[in-house]
Parts: sequence; C-alpha cells; structure tokens
Amino acid sequence: MRKLIADLRAVTGPRHVLAEPDVVAGYATDWTRRYSGVASCVVSPASAGEVADVIRACAAHGTAVVPQGGNTGLVGGSVPPPASPASSPGSARAGPAPVILSTRRLTRLDPVDVGSGQVTAGAGVAIARLRVHAAAAGLRYGVDLASRDSATVGGTIATNAGGIAAVRYGPTRSQVAGVTAVLSDGSVVGDLSGLTAGSVGYDFAQLLTGSEGTLAVITSARLLLRAAEPAAAVLLAGVAGIDQAADLLSGIRAAAAGLLAAEYVDAAGLALVCDMTGLPSPPGRGSGGFLLVEFASGQGNADYFLQRLAGVPLPTDTAVAQDATGMAGLWAYRERLTEAIATAGIPHKIDVAVPAGELGAFRGELDDVVREAVGASAGGAGSGAGRASPPLVIVFGHIGVGNLHVNVLGPDPADTSVDVAVARLAAAHGGSVAAEHGVGRAKTGWLGWTRSAAEIAAMRAIKTALDPAGLLNPGVLLPSG
Ligand code: FAD
Ligand code: MLT
Ligand code: ZN
Repeated sequence: MRKLIADLRAVTGPRHVLAEPDVVAGYATDWTRRYSGVASCVVSPASAGEVADVIRACAAHGTAVVPQGGNTGLVGGSVPPPASPASSPGSARAGPAPVILSTRRLTRLDPVDVGSGQVTAGAGVAIARLRVHAAAAGLRYGVDLASRDSATVGGTIATNAGGIAAVRYGPTRSQVAGVTAVLSDGSVVGDLSGLTAGSVGYDFAQLLTGSEGTLAVITSARLLLRAAEPAAAVLLAGVAGIDQAADLLSGIRAAAAGLLAAEYVDAAGLALVCDMTGLPSPPGRGSGGFLLVEFASGQGNADYFLQRLAGVPLPTDTAVAQDATGMAGLWAYRERLTEAIATAGIPHKIDVAVPAGELGAFRGELDDVVREAVGASAGGAGSGAGRASPPLVIVFGHIGVGNLHVNVLGPDPADTSVDVAVARLAAAHGGSVAAEHGVGRAKTGWLGWTRSAAEIAAMRAIKTALDPAGLLNPGVLLPSG
C-alpha cells in the first residue's frame, strides 16, 4: 500500500492524498451512516489528466477506484465495501483496498454562455454554487435538492438525481448536454461543445448519466440552463392521504400551468419534522398527509393562481404563501425532513417509483408489509434506533413524478428484510425498485424485479467492455461476479 500511496502522491502532490486512518474513515462512511467500508486512501486530483494518471496507477496496483463527489448519496455507492471485494481470476483487483477518488478539487466553473443557455462545470462543483452562478446570469439550473450545498455536478449526473424540480425540468439526464470522463484505461472521452444537434454515434453523456461511477469518472459537464422562473406562490394542503394528494394534484395541474414543484409528506413525517426542528405545526396537522405545490410567477401572481384553482376542491386546511419568507417557511416542512429523520435514528431508506394510479394501493398495503417483514426478522423492531416497536413508517417524496421515499425507523440498520419487502411491493405495483437515488450497493440484488434478464446482461456487457478488469466501483449497480 505504501508504494500505491507514493505513486498517487507523485501524481497529485503529497497534500492531496490522505492516508490517516481516521480521516479516511470519514470519507469511507456515507451520509446515512448505514454504509461504510475500507479504503487505502483518498486522492483528490485537480484535472482530467491527473484523474487519468490516478486511474492508471490504481490499475497498476490492482486497486479498485471509488469515485466520490459530495458523499451525499443514500444507497452506499460513494463508499467502498466493508472488505476488499474478492478478486476473480484474471481480475486487476488483487491489490490494496479501494482508493476513494474525490472530485472536490475539480471545481472549475466557466462563465455562463447566455447565448446558448449553457455552462461548463467541473465534476466537483456543488449544485448550490452552480445554481447561484446560473441565477447571476438570469438563468436557472433545473436540478435542485436539499443536499445542494454538498452534492456535486458529477455525483448528480452519476446518479441521475431527480429532486424537487424534476416535475418541471426532468431529472439530471434532461440537463446534460455533454461530459468529459476518464475511462478505466485512462483514456478521456466526451465533449463539451454543447452541440445538442450533433448526433454521431453513442452518446457518452447519456450513457454515463446514472452509471454510478461504474463506467468512468466524470470530470466535467456541459449543462443546459433554463429561463429563470421565480416562484409566485406555494400552497401546503392538508389531505387525507396519498391518493387524495394525487387526485388534488391532478386537478391543480389541469387548472393551472406553471407548476414548479409537487411534493408529498405524510402525517408521520410532518409530526417528526416539527418535533425534531421545533417548526410550528401548519394548518391541518390532523390530516393524513400534505401536498406542497409551487407555481412559477411567469403566469401571474398568487391571486392569479388562486383564481385558476377556483374550481379545484382545495381542502380548508390549505396554507398559501406568496412572499419569500412565507414560501421558505412552508418548504421547511419538506426540506428539513431528511435531516429530522437522520436525527431520530438510522433509517431504512427505500426510494422507489410507483405509477400514479397505484400510489393509493401501494400505500394501503405498505404498513402490513413492513410489519410482517419486521415481525419475520429475528431481532427486528426496536433494535436499531432505540425505538420500541412498531416501526415508524414515513412516506414522502416527489409525488409529481411518482417518486416515493419510504423511510422506516426501528429495525436494525444491518437487517435488510424491510428494504427487500418494500422494494418487492413497489415492483408488484408496476413500480421501480430504485428511483432518483440509484442502485448503489444497497439494491444490486433487486435489479431483476425491475429490469429484464436481457437488460441486465446488456448492462453487464457494457460494463465489461468499458472496464474489463472491474476497476471502477465494483459491487455498485451490478452485483459483483
Ligand atoms: P456521491 O454521494 O459522492 O456519489 C454518488 C454516486 O455517484 C456514487 O456511486 C459515486 O461513485 C458516483 N460519483 C460521484 N461523483 C462521480 C464522478 N465525478 N464520476 C463518476 N461517478 C461519480 N437525491 C435526489 O436525487 N433527489 C433529492 O431530492 C435528494 N435529496 C437529498 C437530500 C439530502 C439531505 C441528502 C443527504 C441526499 C439527497 N439526495 C437526493 C441524494 C444525493 O444528494 C444525490 O444522490 C446526489 O446526486 C449525490 O451527489 P454527490 O456529489 O454527493 O455524489
Ligand atoms: C428528498 O427528496 O428529500 C431526498 O431524496 C432525501 C431523502 O430521500 O431522504
Ligand atoms: Zn428525493
């Protein structure tokens, strides 16, 4: 391992290879605290050329590379496995534990090209910085998420992140015009010309979007920006449950254009966020859930939207905000929920997509499915977060795109029974076992419930063609082997 570290230091300079065990452990544990592993060191190259040299050095030592951006991923993809993966015959991964390749020095951010509505950003640029940069040019970056201060351009592309603006602009995939990336042999591919009309064979930017660090290390991206659309109003409506929230949202969408966001938080989530953060209860705390919608001001002010919604049966418990402070106040119930749950314990976070017509049925069966999974699992309820049974089930998410986050507090974090049961339930309702968070290390065993055998074989063939030695993030997205 000493030789590996010396070789990496020769590439980046000694300051940019961290090998102190305590420091490395911090990088090797993910945001959820549920996934942590063993790494040789953390290396932070400053250019695509240095990334290529780092990858070549790791290949020479038979050491796997785990790309890491802001380390806010929630499925274990940004950290190495607990022990070095067993190397298969002929594998290059026979050497020291994986190296974490941090993109935190790839932070170049070019001036916005207002003419094309595009910008080039380094993989390590944080989404919050990118959004401020775009706003200063009168434009908007179409991805936004509560982890914006840490989540990076590279990480959000690698996971195809969704977030609160996906209902308006689509997921990250819809914002990417090009990337540059380093393959496992150290070659650099991609282009940043932003020529969206160009169509010359396979599209590396789209191939790498959602590839979770398994095909290449993204070093920079050409991103599409949108017209700035300031918010005119935010509504928080108390509803009976998720199916009523979905019905209400359909009515709102039909009545008024300009929807910027459509989010759902159930009653358990709202109670927890109030308890953990001290936020005051909104009107309708006795409701089964809450629908939050935000409208763009392009169409008119809050009064305009309320007039448009005159024929929509808005619940009496609907709070309306039209100034920045009021809107931020209503958003806080949704934005601070992840942090509130993490304060209460280490949750089982099961991020799924469910067809709009199945949301009510999925939710209707969920509590029984969780209870059965916890009951059937030895030492299940109450052993993880210090909570007594029954487990606490919280459902929230991006209802406008059918993306639900099922969070379960109580079962031991190491026990995956409840995760498996909820993912199976989503698949049984025609949904996807993984959504905006990706597959990571957490969900590789469930791919076959959402993707066909032929699709999984094709994905494996792509992986093998681009990374024959299995150097890049082995064990993520596709099961090892
Ligand atoms: P990391 O966590 O560092 O890595 C994630 C994956 O990408 C890993 O597989 C890693 O290997 C790979 N990767 C990272 N950088 C590169 C690169 N340059 N090249 C190749 N592969 C790379 N996600 C959503 O989609 N929507 C949300 O609304 C949302 N909200 C969140 C709120 C909170 C409070 C938190 C903590 C997380 C949230 N997330 C959300 C999850 C997370 O922020 C996203 O998955 C984000 O895309 C991860 O970005 P990152 O830079 O932190 O990547
Ligand atoms: C969110 O929508 O808040 C994120 O995806 C984070 C989470 O699932 O907790
Ligand atoms: Zn989300």
